[in-house]
Amino acid sequence: KAPLRLGLAGLGTVGIGVVKIVQEHAALIEARTGRPVVITAVSARDRTKNRDADLSGYAWETDPVALARREDVDVFVEVMGGHEGPARDATEAAIATGKDVVSANKALLAHHGQALALAAEAAGRVIRFEAAVAGGIPVIKTLTEGLAGNRMKRVMGVMNGSCNYILTRMQAANLSYETVFEEARQLGYLEADPNLDVGGIDAGHKLALLASIAFGTKVSFGAVELEGIGNVSIDDIRLAEDMGYRIKLLGVAQMTGRGLEQRMTPCLVPASHPLGQLQGGTNMVVLEGDSVGQIVMRGPGAGMGPTASAVMGDVIDLARGLHLPTFGQPAATLADPQPAKSA
Ligand code: NAP
Ligand code: HSE
Repeated sequence: KAPLRLGLAGLGTVGIGVVKIVQEHAALIEARTGRPVVITAVSARDRTKNRDADLSGYAWETDPVALARREDVDVFVEVMGGHEGPARDATEAAIATGKDVVSANKALLAHHGQALALAAEAAGRVIRFEAAVAGGIPVIKTLTEGLAGNRMKRVMGVMNGSCNYILTRMQAANLSYETVFEEARQLGYLEADPNLDVGGIDAGHKLALLASIAFGTKVSFGAVELEGIGNVSIDDIRLAEDMGYRIKLLGVAQMTGRGLEQRMTPCLVPASHPLGQLQGGTNMVVLEGDSVGQIVMRGPGAGMGPTASAVMGDVIDLARGLHLPTFGQPAATLADPQPAKSA
């Protein structure tokens, strides 16, 4: 069978993780899909950077749009980041030239997912984004496939590892927010713009994507009630502990009688609950369906291996010929969400 040819835009943490899986698991992937999966071309800004991977067999494009348009690419893998500019332009170019897209870019999907999914479907293509929500935890696959027979009641979880690291470290070491924030920054745990993490924006993007899939509504990041962790003090954490609670940046999306409620805010969680016990940079997602009841998924929400694992799960689906719709149903059938707060 003909190989599935990837164009890889982004050679940072996630991109190099993808290179490693494609190279190290080539035989295993071919056995599972019935065809080779290969990288034909890559893109990043700086060609001279040492990336700790053998990229010598791949064509190089400094411009990701040129990569997206290449004829020797079947699937455009976008692991660059940013919700405007090159990531968006290149994704649109990939769709316009007949490619499927696999993305880890939650910001792009949260802002433009509906338009991109409509464009992809009109072109007979798909966009997949398992890596964009909760890193290595296959939560989108679980919702769109395993739980497809359920009416979902609620999705919730801790979806930003950096915030969970800060909150658990404050609690365990009795340190101030400012001290631990600085520690996390120096350890490289925070995004280049840390407000994406501590402001709850990154987690809000993820919740908006999950809510769209769970409730069949258009992605509505603007309707997520957002509050970051910047105002959580060590006194708040101690007080919560005295009452048997932990403070977590918790996302909750549920369909209420008043419409779709989406909140990503610091919450009191019982210390005995699995969410309360969640340590460090780990993520946890709780899915509640009318037939299945409650499912709890826990795992690494970030990092090279876990995030590339999720990207490759999507790539392998495409190699197998599985073209599931981006949000679990055709984008044109997604309802306009009625935000609960405006009711
Ligand atoms: P990263 O380490 O900063 O890497 C970004 C890569 O994109 C770099 O190779 C960079 O090139 C390239 N790039 C950026 N702007 C470009 C442009 N205008 N033209 C060409 N190349 C460009 O980022 P990352 O951590 O791998 O994250 C990538 C994506 O995955 C983001 O959307 C992120 O939100 C998402 N994600 C990351 C994680 C994680 O754990 N890191 C988890 C889940 C999702 P240079 O190397 O030459 O600078
Ligand atoms: N900054 C994000 C986090 C990276 O800490 O969860 C993974 O999306």
